[in-house]
Amino acid sequence: MLLEDKIALVTGAGSGIGEAIARRLAAEGARVTVADINDDGGHRVVGEIQAEGGNADFFHADIASAAGAQELVNHVVSTHGRLDLAANNAGLSERPGLMHELDPDDWAKVIGVDLTGTWLCMRAELVQFVEQGGGAIVNTASGAGLKATPGLTAYSAAKHGVVGLTRTGAIDYVKHNIRINAVAPGTIRTPAMEAAGEAQMAEWAALMPSGRMGTPEEIAAGVAWLFSEQASYITGTVLEIDGGYMQA
Ligand SMILES: NC(=O)c1ccc[n+]([C@@H]2O[C@H](COP(=O)([O-])OP(=O)(O)OC[C@H]3O[C@@H](n4cnc5c(N)ncnc54)[C@H](O)[C@@H]3O)[C@@H](O)[C@H]2O)c1
Repeated sequence: MLLEDKIALVTGAGSGIGEAIARRLAAEGARVTVADINDDGGHRVVGEIQAEGGNADFFHADIASAAGAQELVNHVVSTHGRLDLAANNAGLSERPGLMHELDPDDWAKVIGVDLTGTWLCMRAELVQFVEQGGGAIVNTASGAGLKATPGLTAYSAAKHGVVGLTRTGAIDYVKHNIRINAVAPGTIRTPAMEAAGEAQMAEWAALMPSGRMGTPEEIAAGVAWLFSEQASYITGTVLEIDGGYMQA
């Protein structure tokens, strides 16, 4: 197992990619706090991890607020005495449209969760990591954080920001024994994407060099590896997991 007895948190773990990350980290031996605003999803994921023999608990956390992010880290540290691995994954997107049509409230919501929320989590995690002498972060960015994503102004801006947080944090904290990386998923079949319907998903799949959407488990495998000792000299990297999309 890659992550035996590591203490981990995963945000947005009540669904989709976060759920797969939580399950994979637990399968690799980590003790995982599943964090989400979706209590039903979070409790379901914890139940499934425990049924498979893994170690997990649920914590309701709205990571878009400074208090929510801090309470999450406080919960993990008060439960386990430390925090080793933090997967900052919670995120959402606006409905597609042109930049001039975007409602400021929708902009604020996407930036608030995807960018500010990721930073608020990192901020709380880094205080703990510096104090205990190390730790690792993997943020969920996106291909939308590396190239233009027509119709998704706020999402693309937020995910470019997550890449910036990852790269800058990696350098600022490397001497504290803290590694900070990101994954950039391509088009992944999750509940958020399934909501668009089968016809839309077939269109997305056709745009991929691989001819298919990815699975949440394929993202989770990359996150687990970046957290592991096998990636001990990797920091500030954005791992594209997209069936070749960024290179096409
Ligand atoms: N699915 C894709 O194709 C894809 C591609 C690239 C990047 N991503 C990114 O992956 C991450 C997960 O996406 P997904 O497709 O699994 O979506 P999803 O909607 O299935 O899961 C997202 C989870 O985040 C939670 N969440 C939302 N706001 C929150 C908040 N303020 N505090 C705590 N939890 C909150 C939701 O309740 C949900 O459980 C997101 O950051 C998304 O931008 C997804």
